[in-house]
Amino acid sequence: MTTVQVTTPGGDYPIHIGAGRLDSLGQVIPADATAIALVSNGTVAPHYRERAEKALAATGKRVVYIELPDGEAYKDWQTLNLIFDGLLQNRLDRKAVLVALGGGVIGDMVGFAAASYMRGIRFVQVPTTLLAQVDSSVGGKTAINHPLGKNMVGAFYQPIAVEIDIDVLSTLPEREVSAGLAEVIKYGLIIDADFFVWCEQNVQALRALDRQAITYAIQRSCELKAYVVSQDERESGLRAILNLGHTFGHAIESGLGYGAWLHGEAVGCGMVQAAELSVLTHDFPIEDVARVRALVRAIGCPVQAPDLGEEQWLSHMQVDKKTEGGQLRFVLLSAIGKALCEGVPAQALQQVLEKTAVPAQV
Ligand code: NAD
Ligand code: GLY
Repeated sequence: MTTVQVTTPGGDYPIHIGAGRLDSLGQVIPADATAIALVSNGTVAPHYRERAEKALAATGKRVVYIELPDGEAYKDWQTLNLIFDGLLQNRLDRKAVLVALGGGVIGDMVGFAAASYMRGIRFVQVPTTLLAQVDSSVGGKTAINHPLGKNMVGAFYQPIAVEIDIDVLSTLPEREVSAGLAEVIKYGLIIDADFFVWCEQNVQALRALDRQAITYAIQRSCELKAYVVSQDERESGLRAILNLGHTFGHAIESGLGYGAWLHGEAVGCGMVQAAELSVLTHDFPIEDVARVRALVRAIGCPVQAPDLGEEQWLSHMQVDKKTEGGQLRFVLLSAIGKALCEGVPAQALQQVLEKTAVPAQV
């Protein structure tokens, strides 16, 4: 087992990475916890609920189970309320601990429920998708979607532990693996050029979930995210770079309707668009755009964006948490491994949308 430590003003916690972690979940439940609420969905639970419940019950504490409907389309108020219903019906108090067993949708919603139930209770992330293991379970961003914008309602709230069992990836559909790899290569692009090269060299092993390759990719991604989050927990500066490709990606997700493209797919395509934009604004080498496009394609994500129409693109992109005073801001690359966040000329953006958003690919 490998441990990566996260240190933030909102709390310090370990990320444990290894095979079979699911069977030791009880180890991270604090001794003073009065009860445990395990939250999952109908897709993940048939595979992993029993093992997780057994490991949690080994603490001797009461374990209640709450099941949510599966899918990005359910990352909303109504579904969030099902968690509060379950907690209140079972009379869980302030010393109860929530456990999120699932992908980023479950993790983000359980985190938000933990942030607000009785004004805040402790929670543990048990991410079961690659995307959640390398990104969403770490760093304390929690949220639900609003019909007008993705992740628009939420809180910064850190878990007390992140338990990553690499074995659970064996049941993950191939398309979800590709989506998770988009967030992996993102770290190389924004902060670690050597890691980007390593991803280029190991892409087939990563897609095949080769144990050694995927473990290293998860560990390195968590280390890089932990570093960024420890510098800037609440995204007042550096943390914005973690959103490479997200301004375009979120517009794709909300423009097409949540769930049509996977979050990681939209981010992968968005990174190609951001790289194109960086050529016009920061002399990012055109040859490196080709490398970004080739790697996004090689991991199995789309590289051509849907043609939402310029008006729709702009209106969806406006609903972005990086927007300041009505001005859109983008994460851009000056080189592979070097990112920054700033506004861009309208003409450059228009040019990129014309070049990258292709009707035939919708
Ligand atoms: P997801 O949670 O929808 O999971 C994808 C699908 O895989 C779901 O159907 C899920 O039930 C299923 N699944 C999960 N684990 C499985 C397993 N081991 N075997 C079989 N099926 C499994 O999607 P995701 O990609 O994990 O997360 C995307 C969400 O994460 C988005 O809502 C995004 O906004 C959010 N996100 C948050 C952050 C953050 O910092 N908080 C960062 C990135 C993404
Ligand atoms: N996934 C972006 C962030 O955690 O800041």
